[in-house]
Amino acid sequence: MAELNPGIVSSPSASIAGPVHYREGQDRDVAWWKHAVVYQIYPRSFADSDGDGIGDLRGIIDRLDHIATLGVDVVWLSPIYPSPQHDNGYDVSDYRDVDPVYGDLATFDQLLAEIHDRGMALVMDLVFNHTSHQHPWFMASRSGPNDPKRDWYWWRPPRPGMEPGAPGAEPTNWRAAFGGPAWTLDPTSGEYYLHLFSPEQPDLNWENPDVRHALYEVMRWWLDRGVDGFRMDVINHVSKDPSLPDGQPLPGGHLGDGSPHFVSGPRIHEFLQEMRHEVIAPRDDTPVLIGEMPGATVEEAVRFTDPARGELDMVFTFEHLQIDHGADKWDVKPLDLRELKASLGRWQAGLADVGWNSLYLNNHDQPRSVSRFGDDGVHRVRSAKLLATLLHLHRGTPFIYQGEELGLTNTSLTSSDDLRDIESRNHFAEQVAKGVAEDDALAHIRPMSRDNSRTPMPWDDGEHAGFTHGIPWIPLDRDHHHMNAKAAYGDEGSVFHHYHRLIELRHTDPVVVHGDFAMLLPHDAQVYAFTRRLDNTELLVVANVSGDDIEVQLPDAARWQHAELVLHNLNGTGPGDQHVVPPVPPAGLVRLQPWEAQVWRTTTTRAQHLVLVAAEEDLASWTVRTTTRSASRWYL
Ligand code: GLC
Repeated sequence: MAELNPGIVSSPSASIAGPVHYREGQDRDVAWWKHAVVYQIYPRSFADSDGDGIGDLRGIIDRLDHIATLGVDVVWLSPIYPSPQHDNGYDVSDYRDVDPVYGDLATFDQLLAEIHDRGMALVMDLVFNHTSHQHPWFMASRSGPNDPKRDWYWWRPPRPGMEPGAPGAEPTNWRAAFGGPAWTLDPTSGEYYLHLFSPEQPDLNWENPDVRHALYEVMRWWLDRGVDGFRMDVINHVSKDPSLPDGQPLPGGHLGDGSPHFVSGPRIHEFLQEMRHEVIAPRDDTPVLIGEMPGATVEEAVRFTDPARGELDMVFTFEHLQIDHGADKWDVKPLDLRELKASLGRWQAGLADVGWNSLYLNNHDQPRSVSRFGDDGVHRVRSAKLLATLLHLHRGTPFIYQGEELGLTNTSLTSSDDLRDIESRNHFAEQVAKGVAEDDALAHIRPMSRDNSRTPMPWDDGEHAGFTHGIPWIPLDRDHHHMNAKAAYGDEGSVFHHYHRLIELRHTDPVVVHGDFAMLLPHDAQVYAFTRRLDNTELLVVANVSGDDIEVQLPDAARWQHAELVLHNLNGTGPGDQHVVPPVPPAGLVRLQPWEAQVWRTTTTRAQHLVLVAAEEDLASWTVRTTTRSASRWYL
């Protein structure tokens, strides 16, 4: 196979122009998406304008000011393309249109124009690992072995010597992400097709150059329409080992883990370089490419996002959201904060010099972070603000998932009738088939179900929370009387206003975008602390990720003597939250209430700065000593 990309690649960060507004003081020589905060919309659940109970584009247009007021720069739209909706649009049957349930292309154009009018950019979700089984490409492919599109998908005969359909006759033992084998038999031809997700999501064969070029055409079509970039669904799964080896057997059955044979497969870098070379390089504008990459390591992320290699601009890691998984995602372990710090710290360090991080705790596939890592009871508001503070002040581009800015919690999920998600429904059915009682199966699913994050956006405390005047396609969150956008606007201490302040800080203080990151107290199980430094400016972020009272002794107190408190999460309406302004750390002692987060800023002279740089090693390796004074702890 000839080398696809003859080495001429454009550097994604070489260009200074961008679709989002640059604010005063921002460095215009830096790629626009490094300054940006992204807001993800899950269209089905955002706002319904026509009363069918399903969100739509008109509904988004009506609510755009919510997003603009927050201050974000980019809107990422989960799929809106025509789809049979087996996986809520991640099963696309036409890449160049809008599903009638969401609207039409004219409404899309209006949405895009309104987003641009507000100085924001639009990123589309591209699902290119697979199509819907209803896509004309797959229907042609399925029509018979001689169809010109047969090779656009992965068709294979049964295992040698086995009858089609016999148990274990699938070409490999791979398990599909949503359960069962990753191969489905087509009785007409007696061959199987590959689907890493559901049988309704057949995998495209990227080995075939016609497939790749058809997909690049789709990208050009949307870019020419004016969109500003793409979030690329499971893009590190598109290169499979063509010899299709079996995977290691998984416990309890005949299926195996095929992921080593398709995660970051043999030609992935070549494919991505080809994509940039053909689609992005010839353009005058600078669309952003964001790759969703389950299973990617930080070393791989460096390669994927190194501008000199011309692949992607940033990738979504899954590592930090797997630390509470046991044997699988349903087997939930309590959060060990040290592991979260180790993971995020490793990605911060790994991408410090080359490449770029994306930062997220929530999306449409994850349970709500307040319920998962915070306290969704009495300290809901504080802990939502604490998690936001930590995330947004790491180095990278932060992503907010709709409702996160309201501190939404997991849903109560009281009946299996409320399950909508294909993954949850399949897992529930699997459990029940194994003899697990329905209540137990539901309890098993509750903490991690993707439905947790897919409940309708609560806009007000009216009927159906202002989401629809019909019947919502999925039951509403349990507590929209308190957690809703209207209530948040009127409360200065709300999670919404805190997100606004965080975004403003990013837009006004270059240390947030560009500053070096140093993790502090890596071995402490309750305190999450780090510094960011750019030239003479330094931020100290220190947060108590627990329900205890805590005291933290800063090692070099003098340094923080004239520090200014730039952000604090205890300024709200929760118990004891009313505008508590902590003193400047006296003698370097920081006292933290449960779920309290403080952000201090200091500037140093050049002479001090040089000394500090020399001391950086010591600072990053503070040691921890615990005393037994009630719930307080001391750090040296
Ligand atoms: C990605 C999407 C998820 C979808 C899957 C298959 O992980 O985020 O929602 O189910 O890919 O397309």
